[in-house]
Amino acid sequence: MRIEPVASLDGHFAVPGDKSISHRALLIGAVSDGETRIAGWGRSADTESTLAAVRKLGAEVEEDGDRVTVHGAGLRGLRAATIDCGNAGTLARLLPGLLAFQEGTFTLTGDDSLSSRPMTRVAEPLARMGAKIESADGHLPLTITGAPLASLDYELPVASAQVKSAILLAGLGALGRTTVVEPAPTRDHTELMLRTAGAQVAIRPSSITVDAAERLRLDSVEIPGDFSSAAPFIVAATLIPESRITIHDISLNPRRTGLLNVLARMGGRVGILARRKIGAEQAGDIEVRSAELTATTIHSSEVPLLVDELPLFALLAAHARGESWVYGAGELRHKETDRIEAVVDALRAVGTRVRATDDGFAITGVPARVRGGNVDARGDHRIAMLGAVAGLASREGVDVRGAESVAISFPGFFDLLEEISHR
Ligand code: S3P
Repeated sequence: MRIEPVASLDGHFAVPGDKSISHRALLIGAVSDGETRIAGWGRSADTESTLAAVRKLGAEVEEDGDRVTVHGAGLRGLRAATIDCGNAGTLARLLPGLLAFQEGTFTLTGDDSLSSRPMTRVAEPLARMGAKIESADGHLPLTITGAPLASLDYELPVASAQVKSAILLAGLGALGRTTVVEPAPTRDHTELMLRTAGAQVAIRPSSITVDAAERLRLDSVEIPGDFSSAAPFIVAATLIPESRITIHDISLNPRRTGLLNVLARMGGRVGILARRKIGAEQAGDIEVRSAELTATTIHSSEVPLLVDELPLFALLAAHARGESWVYGAGELRHKETDRIEAVVDALRAVGTRVRATDDGFAITGVPARVRGGNVDARGDHRIAMLGAVAGLASREGVDVRGAESVAISFPGFFDLLEEISHR
């Protein structure tokens, strides 16, 4: 898809419901008692994989646009099945935690990208709890046979909300009390939702403890807009002169909005207009205006707070005065693509000076539009969005190969971009 430069972005809009929370609402709803009514559910290829999964596992689901009702099968009521996780890492990592204590044998498969991503990080701690898990050399397909679980005290070797969540979910079905210690704070949607569902959860700054549960009951979940889907628009409006956009009802969970802190120190102009709660989550409206940026450095403790926005940070840095660095982001090599390589290749292709390190990248910024060129998304939705935003903010435009992969998280991405673009 060809993305031409634009003169400015302008408009008020909302983005679809948060993907991380949408997965969790379906999964926790499926093991709850009674009905879970979800409002603001974010429909995308990834969350559709989870919707199909919970249906196959025996939970009935009714759909009406962004309203979804899950008829829970109960904490131990899932039915043996083979589940195709598609491209959805969150489904493949969280579901084993719930399946480990069900009756029967379950198989998880995924597409080529997901099948190349590491699963040992989840299988190993679950096996320590007593789970019976077999994997193909640490990757999907995974076969899980339900077994009695013991509780676990576990220090995460990598800062990962997906691994943390898998262990906490397994902890619901284990005997006793399960604690996960995090090397750095990661997104906390699972613990917040489990608490809403009536589980005993202690949330401390660097650890979470969950008690075994008899039953869960979620009732209703309201989901704010996805900050990660808003991020391409925040970055585009910052980079393109004369822009002013307002994004309504988006998640402002501080474990997700690291990009706003980084933008603030680069000189970005973002205002938070109305802070409030949507369900258990912090949310609000934000206004973004174009700004001139200076370079900055991101260290490992900050990485989980903007892990999915690091490709977009690279584009901000390409337009900022000075040299920017990202350290301690080796996890990017295990995303839908090796996002260190993918970001470096994409930015070089549009004329930016950037180099990869083992666990991050360094970018020499120039406060002017990038040249433009050809970006290959490699099937990675975040790289497709990076290419699109680079195109809007470029001098010559960008051809994004594989642009359709945006549908993994945000099917209406290009329509919204078109609506707010002024040429
Ligand atoms: C997610 C956690 C993050 C993030 C992913 C969604 C989640 O992954 O990159 O897009 O919903 O828990 P890790 O936990 O592997 O860092």
